[in-house]
Amino acid sequence: MEFEEVIKKRRSVRKFLHIPVPRELIARIIGAGHEAPCAGNIINWRFVIVQDEQKRKDLAEAALEQHWIAEAPVVLVLCSRLNELKKFYGLRGEKLYSIQNCAAVAENMVLQAVNLGLASCWVSAFDENEVQRTLDIPDDIRPQVILPIGYPAETNPRPLRYKLEDITFFDSFKSNKMEWTAAFLRDYKFVEKVKESSSNFFSRLKSLFVK
Ligand SMILES: Cc1cc2nc3c(=O)[nH]c(=O)nc-3n(C[C@H](O)[C@H](O)[C@H](O)COP(=O)(O)O)c2cc1C
Repeated sequence: MEFEEVIKKRRSVRKFLHIPVPRELIARIIGAGHEAPCAGNIINWRFVIVQDEQKRKDLAEAALEQHWIAEAPVVLVLCSRLNELKKFYGLRGEKLYSIQNCAAVAENMVLQAVNLGLASCWVSAFDENEVQRTLDIPDDIRPQVILPIGYPAETNPRPLRYKLEDITFFDSFKSNKMEWTAAFLRDYKFVEKVKESSSNFFSRLKSLFVK
């Protein structure tokens, strides 16, 4: 799949077909994660592949009862080992780089899943201690992201986002020149289209009630 197509196609998916994901594809998703940039080339990430049904259910419970997680045939848990980053970079390593490293890994994994015809949803709302207990994760390792992976059973529209020209600044936060608008037009047009279809929907809905 073309790179831009992967970027555009990626959406959070929370319904999966009950079809197993081949090992080779799981390995390729993890492999893509492992290619991410990282501060000082210190590899703090660790992966746990969860296929066991009971453990998937326990993870869903730990993720504040997001039960849909257990429906994915495989759940990948991305963890961060804190020691080295703390040793080399102090507080910044421990509190920032460790998270940024894993975020880069997670995004690579999510995009690779889409590239392979699979889908996922980045999940970070969970009780870390419960996830640690479920997967026997030691104390110096912190679970950071849960990625349920499977073949998608839903297609979700792009959620509304701010216009790029409203959140992009040039040389200073005081200046967001409109000259660049044309360059942003493609995304802008897309957002406008979504807005138009939702406003049509609401006016149709209104016409049903207001006679
Ligand atoms: C840091 C982070 C935490 C998230 N945690 C959850 C989560 O716990 N549960 C969930 O269903 N989605 C979660 N998401 C997915 C977002 O809800 C989703 O990315 C956002 O609504 C935009 O939709 P899209 O991914 O389809 O573009 C999380 C995403 C990120 C980046």
